[in-house]
Amino acid sequence: MNVPEEQQNTITWVVNSLDPEVELLTIAGQMLCEGRLVAFPTETVYGLGANAFDSNAVFRIFTAKGRPSHNPLIVHVVGKPMRDLVVAAWPEIAERLAARFWPGPLTMVLPKTEHIPPVVTGGGPTVAIREPANRIARGLISAAKVPLAAPSANRSNELSPTLASHVVEGLNGRIAGIIDGGPCTAGIESTVIDLTQQPPRILRPGPISQAAIEEIIGPVDFGGGHLATDALPSPGMLLKHYSPQTPTVLISARKMPEIQPNWAVVGFGNDMGTRGLWVRMPTEPAEYAQRLYAVLHELDQKQLEKILIIAPPETAEWVAVRDRLTRATYQD
Ligand code: TXA
Ligand code: MG
Repeated sequence: MNVPEEQQNTITWVVNSLDPEVELLTIAGQMLCEGRLVAFPTETVYGLGANAFDSNAVFRIFTAKGRPSHNPLIVHVVGKPMRDLVVAAWPEIAERLAARFWPGPLTMVLPKTEHIPPVVTGGGPTVAIREPANRIARGLISAAKVPLAAPSANRSNELSPTLASHVVEGLNGRIAGIIDGGPCTAGIESTVIDLTQQPPRILRPGPISQAAIEEIIGPVDFGGGHLATDALPSPGMLLKHYSPQTPTVLISARKMPEIQPNWAVVGFGNDMGTRGLWVRMPTEPAEYAQRLYAVLHELDQKQLEKILIIAPPETAEWVAVRDRLTRATYQD
């Protein structure tokens, strides 16, 4: 088949997230085996999946997203036999982290096997791997019987999707299928930890906190979201990741400018004003994270002049949310 990605007829399946329809996942899994792309829900954000063993299929991810092909991808697996086809070493700290946090939103960087083609890892010797908890994701991987390389299912430099409608907005007509499994529960991307370094290093903060990891394996370095991109060719691009099209700025509640009628303010309960469009966010970090991208997607549709986001507290529990807000509001 020689149809350019742009002209595909994208199928959407609505799947029950608690008890996924096996027949539908079998059809989607078959498409993945044929080298086609299927977007699916995970507990973090929607992923754009391809057979991780098939370099042509993985190349299509970069075309569909408009993403540079040197960015490495996360490989999603279910079970130990599949994991062992992906990673060449499984150190004791990986075992302990997996026992505590898998299936779930923790991605580990480990040495790759020869089965994983260079296009998955940005040409490098390591691979990022995680076992997702979402039942649809697990059912799809099991149906495909291959690990799935899957970045977030958005166009490059746009917001990550937490609803199937976000995926449709960005990728309709560019991929074979979209599985609609409702809203993602965590709402921000997985925590990424590099276990090939001593001590291990958190490359991207996420739903699993540094403190929770240190409870299991002792002290780890924190590269922060931005430092993690130092080694990569275009850090500016990665910094601009996750941003809305509308100019978006992060401000302190104590330095509020005068709000204009066609501005939106994303804040907390106690700082609601009367001019502009005010969105009241949860004061608990995990709940805030779950809503964040959906709120930004929604505001981005409203032809606003500006989106102001009131910065959450500078405490450890807000690290992952602050990382995403800093990226969403990065100006180059
Ligand atoms: O929650 C998530 O992780 C979602 C869902 C779909 O699982 N996926 C996701 O993928 O966010 P993506 O491609 O948007 O982000 C992958 C992150 C990037 O920060 C990338 O630099 C890092 O993982 N990464 C991947 N492979 C790596 C490697 N071999 N070494 C270091 N970092 C790696
Ligand atoms: Mg992404």
